[in-house]
Amino acid sequence: FPCDKIRNFGIIAHIDHGKSTLADRLLELTGTISKNSSENKQVLDKLKVERERGITVKAQTASMLMDHSDTTYLLNLIDTPGHVDFAWEVLRSLTACQGALLLVDASQGVQAQTLSVYHAAKERGVKIIPVVNKIDLPAADPERIIAQMSATLDIDPSEVIRISAKTGIGISNVLQAIIDRVPPPTAQRDQKLKGLLFDSSYDRYRGVISLFSLQDGQIKKGDKIISCHTKKRYDVMEVGVMNPEETPVGTLYAGQVGYVACNMKQSSEAHIGDTFYRMGEPVEPMGGFKQSKAMVYAGVFPVDSNDFPKLEESIERLTLTDRSVSVQRESSAALGQGCRLGFLGTLHMDVFRQRLEDEYDANVIITSPSVPYEILYRGNKIKHVSNPVDFPDPHDHTVIEVREPMVKATIIVPDEYLGDMMDLVSSHRGSDIEHKYLDTGSTAARAILTSMLPLSEVVTDFFDKLKQRSSGFASFDYEDAGYMQSDLYKMMLQLNGKPIDALAMVVHKSNVQKIGRIWTKKLKEVIPRQLFEVAIQATIGSKVQSRETISAIRKDVTAGLYGGHYERKLKHLERQKESKKKMKKVGNIQLPQEAFYDILRTK
Ligand code: GTP
Repeated sequence: FPCDKIRNFGIIAHIDHGKSTLADRLLELTGTISKNSSENKQVLDKLKVERERGITVKAQTASMLMDHSDTTYLLNLIDTPGHVDFAWEVLRSLTACQGALLLVDASQGVQAQTLSVYHAAKERGVKIIPVVNKIDLPAADPERIIAQMSATLDIDPSEVIRISAKTGIGISNVLQAIIDRVPPPTAQRDQKLKGLLFDSSYDRYRGVISLFSLQDGQIKKGDKIISCHTKKRYDVMEVGVMNPEETPVGTLYAGQVGYVACNMKQSSEAHIGDTFYRMGEPVEPMGGFKQSKAMVYAGVFPVDSNDFPKLEESIERLTLTDRSVSVQRESSAALGQGCRLGFLGTLHMDVFRQRLEDEYDANVIITSPSVPYEILYRGNKIKHVSNPVDFPDPHDHTVIEVREPMVKATIIVPDEYLGDMMDLVSSHRGSDIEHKYLDTGSTAARAILTSMLPLSEVVTDFFDKLKQRSSGFASFDYEDAGYMQSDLYKMMLQLNGKPIDALAMVVHKSNVQKIGRIWTKKLKEVIPRQLFEVAIQATIGSKVQSRETISAIRKDVTAGLYGGHYERKLKHLERQKESKKKMKKVGNIQLPQEAFYDILRTK
């Protein structure tokens, strides 16, 4: 395929506006998949968790052929996720595109992520094709939505295509627009090979499979290629296109997007944004990608400590398909050996846990999410703390100040909920920056509220509350807004004076009492009674903020057993030994590992 017959494009939209459905229709109309839509439902959403939750987690790529006025075009679609946590993957996939379909739901209109993905695409100089979807819905009001788009997004109303991805109306206009409006890639095939690795996955048999966007030159089986980043050499075993399944081809040419299997064994070798060249023909590496930044951290531990090696291996495999998770080893007195993982957000964390459980059959305990803090010490030394256990004590006089990450949040909501949203923001230690209206004069006016919030407030139940208090109508997005000084303390939970390290948390001054009470109560519910009294305390430094007591078991319930038969006694001891393995000790208190599981899962 000559470059001028190639179009590389993505679909960007707010969650649920119909990206995957449109992708299916495009694949059908070009004959890439058969028209039996019940069988092909959302072929691009491959992962089970994506199907279950109806959200796209990982960007998937597919190539299709399209005949148009006696010419065949090669269209490469890069499907992108739509959730706020995965904005980074959207940016990553846009780097391989020259155009993007910006999809807006004809009944819902412009939403928080519509704005963020639009700006990301604009920033990258990607040609935007505006599309209004779901015009078949009774509540659809395409004219109003188009007016909204032109008012907020600098879009020419005459360029907007009206479609229904569900019924198929207007899909051929979309294909036409891709060919007419998206510029072909500017690539030089007679130049030295320059390939950009923009995604990777893991195959049990072939190892790492990388997705390449070929900027210059060509690549085929037998080539020896070198990574600019690691200088490691690889032998190309197979190249191909995603059609939408992997389909081997003889050669991949510049301008194309395809997969490359080369004897890459380790997940850590596939660096997103790395440039590859042919051995002996070095090139300048391309500008690379912005590294993903973990916003939420949590410890992950196996329920049975013996499973740690298996858990670690599973995590290693999964991080290959999701490069945005950061991993470090962690050990806890209460929970044993585990890993501390960094995620882009809480949904990202949930999805990762579900994938761990689905794909690797791993039962895991995940500690409460925490955000990274910045500590300023005397002598202008700055330390970053991603685990609450490492947060300094209040009496540490070398600390000048502690800072927490802030976000700039955008909430889009029908006018009548604006007051509720402002209350919600202020009850989460946030402040309004401004609010204005997306479309004035209409009956269903929408307001856009911009505010500053501590990230730690956003990563807990903020999103749930936002949906609840707006009857599901509010949409929400946030971006990093740097660090700010804050009155924060490390709260420890103690059992008879012994701290439980895995439950350490950092709390704001204004929440100390409330959170202390909630957690001591929670612990009281899950800790089994012991032969002695147990004091549960929430402390800051040496000061107790809240306390609960579990009274002792009156009578030794096992006493009767020892008078019994020898065999029965043996059996009992055997069983006790089994369950002891799974018990954790905090001081002299035996805790079933499941207690942690329960306490960390209840909200
Ligand atoms: P994410 O990938 O998770 O961001 O979602 P998405 O944007 O891919 O949305 P998806 O294609 O999963 O569609 C969301 C819902 O809207 C599904 O229930 C679709 O059936 C429905 N839908 C998509 N397009 C149309 C349409 O044109 N008309 C109607 N009525 N429903 C549609």
